[in-house]
Amino acid sequence: DMGGHDTYMHKEISEQADAVDRVLRGRIDDRFSTVRLGGLNLDAREARAVRRVKILGCGTSYHAGLIGAGLIESLARVPADSEPASEFRYRNPVVDPDTLYIAVSQSGETYDVLAAVQELKRKGARVLGVVNVVGSAIARETDGGVYVHAGPEVCVVSTKCFTNTVVAFALLALHLGRTRDLSVADGKRIIEGLRRLPAQISEILEREDEIERLAHEYADARSMMFIGRVRGYPVALEASLKLKEISYIHAEAYPASELKHGPLALIEPAMPTVAVVPDDDLLEKNRAALEEIKARSGRILAVAHREQEKADHTIVVPRNEVELDPILMGIPLQLLAYHTALALGRDIDKPRNLAKSVTVE
Ligand code: F6R
Repeated sequence: DMGGHDTYMHKEISEQADAVDRVLRGRIDDRFSTVRLGGLNLDAREARAVRRVKILGCGTSYHAGLIGAGLIESLARVPADSEPASEFRYRNPVVDPDTLYIAVSQSGETYDVLAAVQELKRKGARVLGVVNVVGSAIARETDGGVYVHAGPEVCVVSTKCFTNTVVAFALLALHLGRTRDLSVADGKRIIEGLRRLPAQISEILEREDEIERLAHEYADARSMMFIGRVRGYPVALEASLKLKEISYIHAEAYPASELKHGPLALIEPAMPTVAVVPDDDLLEKNRAALEEIKARSGRILAVAHREQEKADHTIVVPRNEVELDPILMGIPLQLLAYHTALALGRDIDKPRNLAKSVTVE
């Protein structure tokens, strides 16, 4: 049942304010400015003993893991990274007893992720899951974890589950942070930011007509560049994946700082750039990248907290706490991919060559 929407993707994008509300519900502990995660199965002593976090997933879940790793590093000050699960399992990784491993999956059935979990467990590691489908194979194989509560996702490409997964990571990062040296005040700041998300998501979704018009302006591109820096880079990666999956327009994602090391050679009017430009400590650096693109006659669509002078168009999104900004910045780019694919007449819910869950190697 599409509930009045023309596609499941549109329905699922539109549901995100409620979905985020669900992942937060019942988990925030205002008294201690922390988060209670019932199924985590990691007590405070174990949480404090974690020396490193390694996140494993595929596709969109891997991208959510990249943002999750950033949240864990900034809120809990534990070194963290995210890696495609398949790469990890084929390189005979060093399995470290002080590392907390986290498997991320919407379906909970992705074979490469499941196989990585099994390999880790064979080698004695502790593995948690950040999973959407309750009772799925990965949920059962892991030692505990956080359910994402995005609700059923039918469209082959993931949207609401991506957003909810990142929010689940914010909760986990806050929880880890508060067992270590994150202050009460910072805990409170992040909690208040999390609570603002649903209304801010609705605010972005109300701008769909504007984003649709922009999609029509850029739908003639043969290829698109997506750039961001630090927290913005995984947003660029995910937006570029979404665009290529459903519109079949080729897209590249690069850290803005890498442009001058090669990809700048691609910039010309026929290759527009989508730039993720939050008002954070990297704003000036990002603006310099926009200038470099403009100097090569590149068209620029910015997602930012205020109008960007160097950009041809800016989608202005509401500000949250810097750590949580990537959650909001991804949402207009889901709509951009959606309306680009629609303008090109693509089969949005069932893109060619793709399946919802990849249960083979
Ligand atoms: C992208 C997409 C895929 C999945 C990937 C992992 O829109 O849907 O890249 O994210 O196949 O799937 P899960 O999260 O079910 O393990």
